[in-house]
Amino acid sequence: MKRFKTALLCLLVGAGLQVNAQSKKPVYLDDRMSIEQRVESALSLMTLEEKVALCHAQSKFSSHGVPRLGIPEIWMSDGPHGVREEIQWDSWGNAGFTNDSCTAYPALTCLAATFNPSLSLAYGVAIGEEARYRRKDILLGPGVNIYRTPMNGRNFEYMGEDPYLASIMVVPYIKGVQQSGVAACVKHYALNNQEEWRGHINVNLSDRALYEIYLPAFKAAVEEGQVWSIMGSYNQLRGQHCCHNDLLLNKILKTDWKFDGAVVTDWGGAHDTKQAALNGLDIEMGSYTNGLSSKATFGYEDYFLARPFLDMLKKGEAPVSVVDDKARRVLRLIFRTAMTPNRPYGRFVCADHSETARKVAEEGIVLLKNDKQFFPAPVGKYQRIVVVGENATRSVTEGGGSSTLKVKYEVSPLQGLIAKYGKDHVVYAQGYASGPSLYDREEPSKLNTDSLFKAAVETAKNADVVYFVGGLNKNHFQDAEGGDRKTYNLPFEQDKLIEAILKVNKNVAVILISGNAVAMPWEKAVPAIVQSWYLGSEGGNAIANVLSGAVNPSGKLPFSFPKKLEDNAAHSFGRLSYPGDSINQYYKEDILVGYRWFDTKKIAPQFAFGYGLSYTSFEYGKIATDKPAYKADETIKISFTLKNTGKVDGAEAVQVYASQPKASVMRPAKELKAFQKVFLKAGETQTVSLEVKVKDMAFYNEKTMSWTVEPGEFVLRNAASAADVKSSVSIQIK
Ligand code: BGC
Repeated sequence: MKRFKTALLCLLVGAGLQVNAQSKKPVYLDDRMSIEQRVESALSLMTLEEKVALCHAQSKFSSHGVPRLGIPEIWMSDGPHGVREEIQWDSWGNAGFTNDSCTAYPALTCLAATFNPSLSLAYGVAIGEEARYRRKDILLGPGVNIYRTPMNGRNFEYMGEDPYLASIMVVPYIKGVQQSGVAACVKHYALNNQEEWRGHINVNLSDRALYEIYLPAFKAAVEEGQVWSIMGSYNQLRGQHCCHNDLLLNKILKTDWKFDGAVVTDWGGAHDTKQAALNGLDIEMGSYTNGLSSKATFGYEDYFLARPFLDMLKKGEAPVSVVDDKARRVLRLIFRTAMTPNRPYGRFVCADHSETARKVAEEGIVLLKNDKQFFPAPVGKYQRIVVVGENATRSVTEGGGSSTLKVKYEVSPLQGLIAKYGKDHVVYAQGYASGPSLYDREEPSKLNTDSLFKAAVETAKNADVVYFVGGLNKNHFQDAEGGDRKTYNLPFEQDKLIEAILKVNKNVAVILISGNAVAMPWEKAVPAIVQSWYLGSEGGNAIANVLSGAVNPSGKLPFSFPKKLEDNAAHSFGRLSYPGDSINQYYKEDILVGYRWFDTKKIAPQFAFGYGLSYTSFEYGKIATDKPAYKADETIKISFTLKNTGKVDGAEAVQVYASQPKASVMRPAKELKAFQKVFLKAGETQTVSLEVKVKDMAFYNEKTMSWTVEPGEFVLRNAASAADVKSSVSIQIK
């Protein structure tokens, strides 16, 4: 009966124009019809030229719709920490709008450090609302490239070194964004793990490393997040650029994972018409520019997927089914976004969004060292707080490349600290300086900062306490797109400055603002260290709340901090491993990325993955499972108690790692399989319950090209970080 009604509803008229009998509207315009029906209806009305037009840009940040049919163009915007300012139609210059100053959310490293998926959802909802208000159809983010080396200039835009953590955290972000009828665009698929030579470096790695380390977060984005678009990366994999890579796009993404959305190039990531046509690319953006600064010299009609693609189709060098598949995907995206019924209007820069930004910042800040309860420093504890460092006043929402933001406001650390402690108690000395332009690199000789240096040391002498607010910034060759860092040490002679301050005052806390690990030659000498990330509009308030104790820190590191660069896996194999020989690079550390390397090779990191202190203390009970043995299709139920043994309320991100001591292949010492952020009142005890599917303990079997769980003993451990295991339990897998 239902089928009969549907058949009645759709009346075939003329050349494929389906009209809904009740509304008299063509099916593609009738939002009561399913998206697939609308897609087929629209496609059946389109010319070959119109289909091809859907596959490439018409401006720097938009691509074509089908004007004749009233199907709108697609508008895109960066991503991923706020909605980027409007830029000109055909150049990277700003468009001069006065109503596009957004809320800046904390960088994704900070979001990952919260270990709190519900905050990821809140983040996605808020940024999705801002994108919607600004009439964007695609938000170019989030990024989930794996943190392979601390030198990668773009790590701050990603979710750390662990594929499981990134997989869990990326999904709610996507769902939150898409709830506003805006497509998330997860990027950069895949292996864009460095900025050095990003446009062409050819990544060589094992299948195992590809599947176990670098793909899981993208897979989760597709299969669980149901993401509507994905951005290819600039680099090559096995000799093919990733924006038109047959293995990554046709096989893995579209066949294995059944992705039904659109593949967008990174800006300028397409290089060849045949490959772009046949290897799974759907929308080509930014060609003939360097992806960052220069203006297009070619018209959009010359794009690989424009006239050359049309010619190819006309000559029969590619079947029409190829363009139909691309057009279907682009239409589906438009029907999911711009042409979806009841799309909310969105909201832009409101109190709720600021609150979300502040909460993420507060929960992501990681307390790394806190000797003798240096923090919290409640209001009134110190009369004279000397704040030293350029990052106390510098904008950290501006710069960094495409994620740069024009913000409505940004509370700097100094402003936050003054608001908290009062202006009579806070004195500022800049201490060092980076170059005035975002493109200045670290060339201390160019800037004479002697007077800043001396003034800071002099001011620090009479301080009750010194807060050194330094780190990296968003300048080129710092935490910025388009280049990697040049040194693992802090730039602008900050190490020297910290040592000099320590000579006159031992009461120094180092508050690092960065998206990357840095060397800490002064680690033993300072009583307190805080990892503060790029925290967005509410950064200064969040820092002041954590330092003063208004908020109890609960962030944990989403990547390991090596003591020295060579301790990091990628670097320990020399230049062919990182950054490569400018043509090729080889991921010689294979699956041993991050803590997998430190643990397996028994190298102590400076600070371990998953590590972070609190103002309270937690006591972990012994880990237990519901049974001693499991079959392959079962789920392991894990439990243990957690007690807040201190005097203040707090939250702890508990972690469960698994390992298989005896296997036919090398397996890491341990791998994260579950985590949960547990909030406990002072003195409260809770039983933590977690689940791990047996199938999630598999390794990628290169012989059978499939996931394999080998029977035998597995060990599960509950831990406060990768380096702080509390207890373990053995189970058998049959
Ligand atoms: C970046 C992308 C960004 C795009 C558009 C590229 O240079 O790699 O992440 O979305 O530009 O700005």
